[in-house]
This record gives sequence, structure tokens and C-alpha cells, in this order.
Amino acid sequence: MPNNKFTGKILWRNRFAFYLLAVGSACGLGNIWRFPYVAGENGGGAFILLYLFLAFTVGVSILIAELMLGKKSEASLLKITQRVSTTHKKPYFWISRLTLFITLVILSYYSVISGWVLHYITQFVVGFFRGDTLQYISSLNMKVLTDNGWLQFALASVHLIVAGLIVGQRMTNRFEKILTTFIIPVFVFLFAMLLVRSLSLDSTPEVLRFIFYPDFSKLNLRSLGHAIGHVFFTLSIGVGALVTFGSYFKNEDHLPKVGFRVMMVDVMISLFSVLLVFPIAFSIGEKPLTDPSLLFEALPRLFMKIQFGALFGLGFFICLWAAALNASVGLLETLASNYSERYLKSDRKNSIWLITVITLGFTVIPAFSGSGLKDVKLFDQTLLENIDSFLINYLLPISGLGMAFLFFKALPLADQKDLFLDEKTESSYALINYWQAILKFAAPILIAAGIILQIIALVRG
Ligand code: TRP
Repeated sequence: MPNNKFTGKILWRNRFAFYLLAVGSACGLGNIWRFPYVAGENGGGAFILLYLFLAFTVGVSILIAELMLGKKSEASLLKITQRVSTTHKKPYFWISRLTLFITLVILSYYSVISGWVLHYITQFVVGFFRGDTLQYISSLNMKVLTDNGWLQFALASVHLIVAGLIVGQRMTNRFEKILTTFIIPVFVFLFAMLLVRSLSLDSTPEVLRFIFYPDFSKLNLRSLGHAIGHVFFTLSIGVGALVTFGSYFKNEDHLPKVGFRVMMVDVMISLFSVLLVFPIAFSIGEKPLTDPSLLFEALPRLFMKIQFGALFGLGFFICLWAAALNASVGLLETLASNYSERYLKSDRKNSIWLITVITLGFTVIPAFSGSGLKDVKLFDQTLLENIDSFLINYLLPISGLGMAFLFFKALPLADQKDLFLDEKTESSYALINYWQAILKFAAPILIAAGIILQIIALVRG
């Protein structure tokens, strides 16, 4: 297990710990913060159906392929592409360079949004001291943050440094223990309570119609690309993060089953998040469904209606931050693992700090996009919106195709069959051809279509 020796990685032999890693990387702000407003922006039901269809086809197929690539190669992406480049004498290592760059930008963007969550946590504390916590929180709006680049930068730095400390000081195990014994149970409890309360609002029937009645006329030219991009983002696929996790995976579990379960958990959380956020948003009246501030503006209005709402609110945002931190730890881990496998001599701790500092440099752009860089607009959007869109709706799916391509280059058919077929899982014999057809044909066609339609929309203005 060369990667373990060189990266000093703690062995994740245990099945539960592996699920925690994969599910923990998948579930985060993408589900709870991003999915509701992207679904709102694209008109609700029909988009959600499209998203589910893509998660169950392209999403899970690539997820499984990435896990297999890592497990079989016992290495991270950078090393795998180097091997493939040497055998095929072609510069395939450019694929992993692209994915690592994307991972770095995702981490910086993700840190800025995590910083927003941190801001809410601090504001609850301020509110407690003032004595009118909920009044205070509900009068907060995102403008405080968007107008203040330094604040966003500082909060993102705190987030990144904590993530860096966890990965660099090998505290991942301890952090995961806190997550499993404390944070996850509390989060499930709080989420369930808030969900019940939210679904008892008068607006719920209207929300259920909006979510479950697909009105395809509400889809637009951008919707396919948005759905594909979000599937990639929420499942953490397309950049080889799951290749790294797959390389830690040492037991004999059937990977397609593992991949399917990870996808299912992720999809469920996204659906629950929509059900949590929309009833509140609908009852506010003006339906601010399409804006990144949706979660942050909607939730405090629900806390107002509940006894001990301030405590619920504080608890919810702390748990949300822990989830965001866990996803960031996964991103940082991927970067560090690739880096230390490539430069074997380099010290892991130093490489983590180097990566953290470089990422921090990148956070400047999204952090200041509403203040210092406010006037730098592209396509009528701020830099943060452009980064989100370009990264998630264009780059991530393209590099996801790179993953599928590498998978076929690096793993011979015999290996693919060996990993996919399982005597105990009869369905694997029926599904293997679909899986391969999705990776080879459906994914490229859908991704290309999604991108072309978005470009048409852009050109038309
Ligand atoms: N999937 C995470 C979320 O939904 C974000 C994330 C973590 C991610 N690791 C990733 C996205 C790797 C793309 C690639 O919040």
C-alpha cells in the first residue's frame, strides 16, 4: 500500500469509516444550501426530476468508476495519469492537472460559503448577548456579508485553517469521532424537528405541487447543464476525489453497491433540504427562491416560530458548519494525497500548509466579488456567480468526462468486470452493460448537450 506509507494516511479498513468518508464528502453545502435555490431558479418539479434522473444514471456511474479506479490502482489521480501517460505515450497527465486545479478552486469557493455559515454562528452569539437573538438574526441579511470582502475573507480563512489543522495534524480520526458520536445524531434530530415544523406551514400544499408536479415548460436552455453540474458537485465526482478515497478502500465490499448507497443518501438529503426550505420561502410571500441567500434568509424565519428557536438555530448552523468542514477536509485530503504521492520526499504537513495558503489566495476573488471587485462583471454577473457557474456547470462535467475516459484507459475490461460483477448481487450481471453504455455514450452526449445549450443561452443573452 504505497500511498499509506508515503502519505502517512491512517488506514480506513473499516467499512463504516469508509462510508463516513464518502458520504461525508458528498453531503454538505451542496445539498442543503445550493440545491434548493438552484432547483428554485430552474422552476422546481421538472428540474428536480431531471436532477434525479441524472443522479441515478450519469452520477452514480461515474461515482462507481472513480471508486474502482482508486481501489484497483491503489493511488490518487495524479499518479494514475502519469502511469497511463507513460504506457500510452500521451500527455494524459493534463487531465489530473486540470482536476487538481478545479479541486483547489472548489475548495476556495466552498470556504467562502462556509464562512457565511460561520458568520451566522457568530451572530447567534452576538444576539444572545443582546438578548433579542432571533429579532437580531432575522434582521440580518446577506448584504452585511456581500458588502464586506474582508469579513468574508477572514471567515473563509478561519474555515480553511481549521480544515488544514484537521488534515495536517492528523486529527481526521478525532474529528470523525466527534461527527459520528455527536454532530450527526444532533443534526438528524434538529433537521427532522425543523422539517416537521416547516411542513406544517400553510404554504406546504403549494410547495408540494411545486416540487412534485413537473411542469416541463419551466425548464430553460440552462437547466440541463445546471442539473448535470449540480449532480457532479453534490456527489463530489468529476475531480478524482473518490479515486483517492477508493485507494483507501481495502475491504471486499461490492463497489457498485457502495456507490449506489452513497448516491442515495446524498439524494435524500437534497430532497429533504428542499422540503425544509421551500415552505418557509413560499410563506414569506415574494418567493425569493432563486438566490444564493435563500437558506440564510429563510431559516431564521422558521426559528422565530419555534420555542427555543435561537438554540435550534445555533445548533443547526453549527452542525451545518461541521458538515461543510468535513467536505472541505475531504477536498484538502484529495489535494494533499495527490501532492504527496507525486512528490514522495515532501513532508505531508508542509504540503498541506502550502496547499492551504494557495487556496487562501484564491478565496480573494469570490470573497471580494460583492465589494472591492463589485464592478468586475462578466455576462452581467458578479465574479462569485461566474465562478460558481463556470466551475460547476462547465468545468466539473468536462473533467468528469476525463474521469470516465481515464477509467477505460487505466482499467482493462477484465478488471472492470471483476470489480463490477458480484455473484451475490445478481443485478450486477444485468446492469454492467448499462453502466458501460452510460459511461461511454450517455454521459458524453448529455454533458455535451448541457454545455452547448448553456452556450446558446449565453449568446442569446
Ligand atoms: N459534495 C460536496 C457538497 O455537496 C462538496 C464537495 C466536496 C465536492 N468534495 C468535493 C464537490 C469534490 C466536488 C468535488 O457540499
